[in-house]
Amino acid sequence: MRVLITGGAGFLGSHLSDSFIERGDEVFVLDTGSIAKVRHLLDHPRFHYIHDSIFNLELLDGLAAKVDLIYHLAAVVGVEHYVADPYETLNVNVNGTQNVLKVAYKYNRKLVFSSTSEIYGRNPKVPWREDDDRVLGATTIDRWCYSTSKAVGEHFCFAYHKLGLPVTVLRYFNVYGPRLDRVDVGRLFTIFMGQLLRNADLTVIGDGSQTRCFTFVSDAVAATVAAGLNDAANGHAVNVGVDVETSVLEFAQLMLELYGSTKSKIRFVSQEEVYGAGYEDIPRRVPDNTKMRNLLGVEPKVSLKEGTKMAIDWFRREANR
Ligand SMILES: NC(=O)c1ccc[n+]([C@@H]2O[C@H](COP(=O)([O-])OP(=O)(O)OC[C@H]3O[C@@H](n4cnc5c(N)ncnc54)[C@H](O)[C@@H]3O)[C@@H](O)[C@H]2O)c1
Repeated sequence: MRVLITGGAGFLGSHLSDSFIERGDEVFVLDTGSIAKVRHLLDHPRFHYIHDSIFNLELLDGLAAKVDLIYHLAAVVGVEHYVADPYETLNVNVNGTQNVLKVAYKYNRKLVFSSTSEIYGRNPKVPWREDDDRVLGATTIDRWCYSTSKAVGEHFCFAYHKLGLPVTVLRYFNVYGPRLDRVDVGRLFTIFMGQLLRNADLTVIGDGSQTRCFTFVSDAVAATVAAGLNDAANGHAVNVGVDVETSVLEFAQLMLELYGSTKSKIRFVSQEEVYGAGYEDIPRRVPDNTKMRNLLGVEPKVSLKEGTKMAIDWFRREANR
C-alpha cells in the first residue's frame, strides 16, 4: 500500500509512519517541519520525506495520484500557537484542509482527517459521544479558533463524504509519548518534563482538579491505522482516547514519582499567568470510546503509569545525548 501522511514529520505522524513502514507499506510524508522526528526513517527505501506545504496544490495533486490512502495530520497545533497566531491556525487548518480534500476527491482516495477533543469545547457532559453538542465561547476569544478550524475541517469531510469520498474523522484526546513537542513547550507532558529536567517546580494551573484522559501514542496510532484500513469507519467521526480520567494535579504527582525527582515540587499558578487573559480552560474532557472499540476494533493497551514511564525514559535519554 502507498500512504500519504500530511504532517507526517510531527509527533503523531512520525509514529504513524513507523507503523506503516513496519507493515511493509510505502510512506510519503509531506511536512513543512523539521526532520528530527523522522530522521531514523530517512534512509529507508520505502520512506519518502517531502519538505513542502499542503498549500502546494500541484505537489499535493501528484502525491494523491500515486497513493492508495491519505492521512491528513498537517495542522497548527498546541495552545501556545493558536493563541499566538489565530490567522495561521485558521489558514492551515481550514484552507489547507480544503486542498487535501480536493485532491483526495479528485482521485477518490480514502482520507482520514485528524480532529480533536477540542471540538466539544466546554460542553459539561461526561463522557462525550461523537454526536454530542459543541459548546464554544465567543469568536473574540482566540482560544476557540482551533476548535472551530477543526470543526470546519470536519464539516468539509462530511460534505465530501456525501459527494462519495470515503472519509473518516478521528478526534484525539491528549495523546502523549516519545517525540511529543520539544520540552518546555506544547502540551502538559512536555511542559512538566522540561521542568523536571531543569529541577524546576511543576506548574499546575488553578488547583489542578481539571481532568484529562491521557492516551499513549501507540494506542492512538493503532486506532489511526485501523481507521484507514476499515471501510466500516467511512462517514464516521470516532473519538480516539482512553476513558480514564486523571486530574492535572494527579498527573503532575505521577510524573514527579516516576522521574524520581527530589528537587522539583508542585507549584500552583493562575491561568492568566500562563496563557494571558483570553484563555478559557476546559474542566473535564472524557471520551466515550465505544466507537473506537466496536467500529475500529481497538482496545487501549497502555496504562498511564506504563506510558508515562516510557515517555519519561525516552525524554531523559534524549536530554543526555
Ligand atoms: N497529539 C494530540 O494529542 C492531538 C490531539 C488532538 C488532535 N491532534 C491532531 O493530530 C494531528 C497531529 O498532531 P501532532 O500532535 O502530531 O502535532 P504536530 O504539531 O507534532 O504535527 C503537525 C505537523 O503538521 C506540520 N504542518 C503544519 N503546517 C503544515 C503545512 N502547511 N504543510 C505541511 N505540514 C504542515 C507541522 O510541521 C507538524 O510536523 C493534528 O492535526 C492535530 O490537530 C493531536
